[in-house]
Amino acid sequence: GIHLKIAMLGWGTVARSLMDQLKQHPDAVIQTAAILIRKPHPRTCPEMTYDYAAILDNPEIDVIVEMIPGAEAAWNYCSQAMQAGKSVVTSNKAMVSAYFSQLLALAEKYKVQFRYDACVAGGIPWLRTLTALKQTDPLLSIEGIFNGTTNYILDHMERDRLSLAEGIAQAQQLGYAEADPSADLEGEDLARKLMISAGCAFGVLLHRDQFAVQGLQGLCAQDIEAFLAKDKRCRLISALKQGSSGMQAGIEPVLLPFNAPLAQIRDNLNAGVLRTANLGELTLIGQGAGGPPTAHAVLTDLLEILNDHPVSPLTLQETNLCENPEAVRYYI
Ligand code: HSE
Repeated sequence: GIHLKIAMLGWGTVARSLMDQLKQHPDAVIQTAAILIRKPHPRTCPEMTYDYAAILDNPEIDVIVEMIPGAEAAWNYCSQAMQAGKSVVTSNKAMVSAYFSQLLALAEKYKVQFRYDACVAGGIPWLRTLTALKQTDPLLSIEGIFNGTTNYILDHMERDRLSLAEGIAQAQQLGYAEADPSADLEGEDLARKLMISAGCAFGVLLHRDQFAVQGLQGLCAQDIEAFLAKDKRCRLISALKQGSSGMQAGIEPVLLPFNAPLAQIRDNLNAGVLRTANLGELTLIGQGAGGPPTAHAVLTDLLEILNDHPVSPLTLQETNLCENPEAVRYYI
């Protein structure tokens, strides 16, 4: 029978994929009781509603699954949900990075679950792994490729000799890019993911003005030619490292030798590399963008709530970053 009733907020790529995966799930233990949409979207199935108050008032709905774009409206929905005693699962990295501490505090206060694994590298159990390792084997550094759109663009500018604009258009056609692709191109999508990763890996509250972000804006076909002439390949790398004098964080395009591990990451794949004292280095490679991988992460969060898997407590501390951007460029 049904063990968990959810309300989806939003009816975009992730929500549609989640619906498909819920239908395919062999046990059918999770039921979608409501889908909040916005006018002028027509109500094409009976679960669709414009009425959030009714969702909040419905005692049968256990979990709100928030999958809308943008931070502010989502924060309103999610904070109201937790105050109403409902758990929250979200794929919204803009909201989580902007309201990370507040969301964690609300979940604790109202004794509900708050889960957000889908926010970083959808198909890779990245945040889950960081959270687990933090308990057992303190992390020393994390780095990697966490934006499928820009990796696709860089890869295909090189392989197919595309211009930046042509690469963007292809990534959009394939559905990897955000609704506003500038968040991908200028690295803001990556900044959000690094802030969330920093919380899970190190328990720190990273603020956007504490680290530098450089994206792909301005890159042109001639740049790629020049890199190739030097036997180098460009990848957009995020890095966060615990040093003796503080944390180092940065996001920037990096030139790698062809045989570097992160130079092997093709198309829209993501790759996360973490280092710990005992485990050594661990690399996770997988799908980071697109409906099915992202919805899979949401479904995993839902099943963990269903199985009453306890959430590891997370409290975020303020931190000072060391001002040495050179130090985060591992491969130059
Ligand atoms: N636009 C993002 C990307 C989606 O390309 O990686 C997943 O966060």
